[in-house]
Amino acid sequence: MNRLVIAVDGPAGAGKSTISKAIAKRLNIEYIDTGAMYRAVTLKLLRSNVDFDDEASIKDILSKIDINLSEGKVYLDGEDVSEEIRMPYISSRVSEVAAMPLVREKLVEIQRKMASTKSVIMDGRDIGTNVLRDEANLKVYLTASVRERGNRRYKELKEKGLEVTLEDICREIENRDKYDMSREINPLCKAEDAVLVDTTGKSIEQVVQEIIRLVGNIG
Ligand code: C5P
Repeated sequence: MNRLVIAVDGPAGAGKSTISKAIAKRLNIEYIDTGAMYRAVTLKLLRSNVDFDDEASIKDILSKIDINLSEGKVYLDGEDVSEEIRMPYISSRVSEVAAMPLVREKLVEIQRKMASTKSVIMDGRDIGTNVLRDEANLKVYLTASVRERGNRRYKELKEKGLEVTLEDICREIENRDKYDMSREINPLCKAEDAVLVDTTGKSIEQVVQEIIRLVGNIG
């Protein structure tokens, strides 16, 4: 096999980034977090105070935006925004931004370029069905129960010192999934050729091992 190209999709909080990062480290390949890119665009648009219906201004902003993923950090126009983009005020608006055709066109083009020459594991919502539909040699659809996904996010945010409730987090996750699954362009869904991995009740190590085994089976 020449390049190893792994696509990981699934709903919010299924553990995609934790698992993908661990696999990237183990296999010594690059991890690309596409959700972080949609979050960075959301931060940019909110900071710019642009009306989400104002396509001309959004197009202009997108033509100048600089998003960079490097060593686990996310840079927006040179600024490290890795922490900021995880804040609830971004999570609650990102799906609206990710549904904009102009935004998806721009980010998908960058994502395909990033994955075109090296071995990668890329996670998101439309990686197996769109971004790397033809390139991926392994597609995984990662999921878990809403309660478990909510609990994981809740713990993460609490550890960061944020005042949140489990109910709010579960509601946000469900809303985001509904939005991501029902948008017109490249909605979240399992690719026909993706392997379904349910992480409910499993440890990170168990899931990592399960996927590494799948990598070993690639013909
Ligand atoms: O993965 P994460 O939860 O950080 O993604 C944030 C949001 O970005 C998702 O809820 C979705 O709206 C959007 N997204 C997307 N396509 C991707 C990755 C993320 O629409 N490939």
